[in-house]
Amino acid sequence: MKITIIGTGYVGLVTGACLAELGNDVFCLDVDQSKVDILNNGGIPIHEPGLEDVVARNRAAGRLQFSTDIAASVAHGEIQFIAVGTPPDEDGSADLQYVLAAARNIGRYMDGFKVVVDKSTVPVGTADRVTAAIADELAKRGKSGAGFSVVSNPEFLKEGAAVEDFMRPDRIVIGHDQTPEGQRAYALMKKLYAPFNRNHERTFWMDVRSAEFTKYAANAMLATRISFMNELANLADKVGADIEAVRHGIGSDPRIGHSFLYAGCGYGGSCFPKDVQALERTARDYDQDLLILRAVEQVNDFQKHVLGKKVVKRFGDDLSGKRFAIWGLAFKPNTDDMREASSRVLVDELVRRGATVSVYDPVAMKEAERVLKLDFADDAKLFERISFAANPMAALEGADALAIVTEWKAFRSPDFDRVKAALKNPVIFDGRNLFEPQVMADSGIEYYGIGRSILTRGQ
Ligand code: NAD
Ligand code: UDX
Repeated sequence: MKITIIGTGYVGLVTGACLAELGNDVFCLDVDQSKVDILNNGGIPIHEPGLEDVVARNRAAGRLQFSTDIAASVAHGEIQFIAVGTPPDEDGSADLQYVLAAARNIGRYMDGFKVVVDKSTVPVGTADRVTAAIADELAKRGKSGAGFSVVSNPEFLKEGAAVEDFMRPDRIVIGHDQTPEGQRAYALMKKLYAPFNRNHERTFWMDVRSAEFTKYAANAMLATRISFMNELANLADKVGADIEAVRHGIGSDPRIGHSFLYAGCGYGGSCFPKDVQALERTARDYDQDLLILRAVEQVNDFQKHVLGKKVVKRFGDDLSGKRFAIWGLAFKPNTDDMREASSRVLVDELVRRGATVSVYDPVAMKEAERVLKLDFADDAKLFERISFAANPMAALEGADALAIVTEWKAFRSPDFDRVKAALKNPVIFDGRNLFEPQVMADSGIEYYGIGRSILTRGQ
């Protein structure tokens, strides 16, 4: 089938490459010429395991092309996926300017029937706005009769496992309407996703608003679990319980399950923070206050400061003259994405309290340098207190303590003797509970985890 993907970021590039892998003829559009140039030169603009190979293979096979040519992109696909960003607006709502711009472009150039797929995460009711934007442009061209249908097909992939998630989805959610155009869209979407449903049906067909809502409900539920565990972990620290034991104890109940119960230094990324905010905002528009989600957000804001608070408790308010090593900058492992990463909050707190930091991440160094420079745009001198180390051990040299923010596999089994030898004090603040407190105690390391103080010396 001929498919157009509008927006070649994390979601658009994965969607385009994976649909090409299934034999479709895919045209990826982006307004960012530099991204399109990288892709046309055989690179990929993001770090995502396995993606580069899928892109290369399908480009070589002539099934995947990248361009900034809007008219050509609209002409190409009978199915047009909108996969542009929906960042938070100042009031927390999803900023739909890129989605609506993409919709207007479709209306401006389309000839013949189109299925327009909202792949971006968009608030309930957005399909109606996309429909109106396209209809407006068609009316301007005197083509009001041109047929199209807007469907909602939210994406559930996780960064770092995006190709696997897309190719082997738990579920595919598709919302369509019951008009003749909606039925035509249903038939085309069914054909497109048929390869995913071969062994068992994974698609949930529903109305458009329910599909839009499902995406926010899923992310809000997952964010809630994490904030709930983080809050319990903070209490565990006080009452003298071990949150890891508690996690096992409750996760084994199949009604609760083991996933997404890891306490840590807060959730980040391009989805949970903004989607929780956007759902709260939607609720407020309908005169409802989502009390639980407000708390989820507050707990997460607090949690991103938890490591900083532990450092201050140990080393004092004034950190002038102190140096801290930080392992892990990306918001989670296997990605270079720094959006809403907890590391940014920690670096900010340490540097503004007078410390210097030496940071290391296996893949996000370049992106980290870019965003940290922006974070300290108000005072470039503060940015100079950050040094970017070549490897984890180099980051430790002369540091007073180590803080771990992202649970990269490469950090899981360090040589603790070397760690101790490199640090001025054998102190580790572990924001992802990578190590066993007892092992740390036996190694003579002063260890601060999240919700594990019963097992931890010195707290
Ligand atoms: P992104 O910022 O990585 O990519 C968006 C791309 O769209 C950019 O390359 C931008 O240049 C391009 N763009 C903007 N306006 C355009 C236009 N009019 N025409 C063509 N291209 C345009 O964003 P992302 O992380 O891929 O997220 C996209 C959407 O998918 C968001 O709504 C997000 O919430 C949702 N989502 C993201 C993830 C994730 O893990 N990143 C997962 C599920 C859903
Ligand atoms: C999330 C959703 O999982 C995915 O379905 C959706 O499509 C996009 O948003 P992503 O943001 O890529 O995916 O990463 P995810 O693995 O969900 O992690 C998000 C954040 O939660 C990370 O900062 C991670 O460290 C944190 N997290 C996750 C926890 O703190 N504890 C957990 O138990 C799980």
